[in-house]
Amino acid sequence: FDLTAMTRVNRCETDPKWEFPRNQLSIEQTLGEGEFGRVLRARAFNIGGQSGYATVAVKTLKNDAGERELADLLSEYQLLKEVSHPNIIKLLGASTVPGGPVYLIIEFAEHGSLRNYLRRSRHLQTDIHITTNRLHNITPEHYDEPKICEITPKEILSFAWQIANGMSYLSDIKLVHRDLAARNVLIGTGKICKISDFGLTRDIYEDDAYFKRSKGRVPVKWMAPESLSDHIYTNKSDVWSYGILIWELVTLGASPYPGIVVQSLFHLLKTGYRMERPENCSVALYKVMRSCWSLDPEKRPTFSDLSIKFEKMLEDEV
Ligand code: ADE
Repeated sequence: FDLTAMTRVNRCETDPKWEFPRNQLSIEQTLGEGEFGRVLRARAFNIGGQSGYATVAVKTLKNDAGERELADLLSEYQLLKEVSHPNIIKLLGASTVPGGPVYLIIEFAEHGSLRNYLRRSRHLQTDIHITTNRLHNITPEHYDEPKICEITPKEILSFAWQIANGMSYLSDIKLVHRDLAARNVLIGTGKICKISDFGLTRDIYEDDAYFKRSKGRVPVKWMAPESLSDHIYTNKSDVWSYGILIWELVTLGASPYPGIVVQSLFHLLKTGYRMERPENCSVALYKVMRSCWSLDPEKRPTFSDLSIKFEKMLEDEV
């Protein structure tokens, strides 16, 4: 009897403290899909101490996912149990008992991913339909009809600040995210940033480097040079990725290093090449980005430094 990775869970993963009955979950639609994973929107009955129905997001695996993807999902589960911060996505429960797919139940972020949020905001001036809706004060109710959102420079700084706060917390508890990017930050109610996607996150111990064992999916354009060449992942390599994330923020969700193939990136970075200052990016903000992209990891700021910096920049903004 061959169980797929979807149902094959070691007994010890079932944690009564977090286990949620699958029959109290009704799946509504797909929110997003990766190669082997899927995020669904669902309604959960009596979850996380709330009575009645709540909208939640459910992370699960596709049928063709293997051992590795299951291991990543379960490792994300273990990590999410340990974290608690307003800028980190919250775990609500999980369904891991045999007889069905593995579900991680996480809080639903009503505005979706930061990358999509940024890209949607670009069309505001030109999209006549949305403009008309705004004039008539019509607010779409559903996630698949995103709410109208205009982005101000202050909001960009606020996002950068919130993400630095969440990452500073992760540094404090000695976690390295390894996949920080706008696609992995969610925007919740009140435009609160929630760092998510902890599938690649690892605990760090002894020296604070994590050496990646084998090849997997690699987000090359977000990776620090030392991660590319030596598979070294630290809070300092997360800071490099954070610099790319700021670039994504100011370009309203553009794809980094346009026109550059990933094969040539490492050599370019080693020889000092960096993305230029985007249009509409202040010199001060570009300076922060560039400091995150110091070749020497020790010369990069800490997330705590970055949080303080953005707090100051926010104060200066009117
Ligand atoms: N897409 C992926 N995860 C999500 C979540 N937790 N809420 C809303 N959209 C999502």
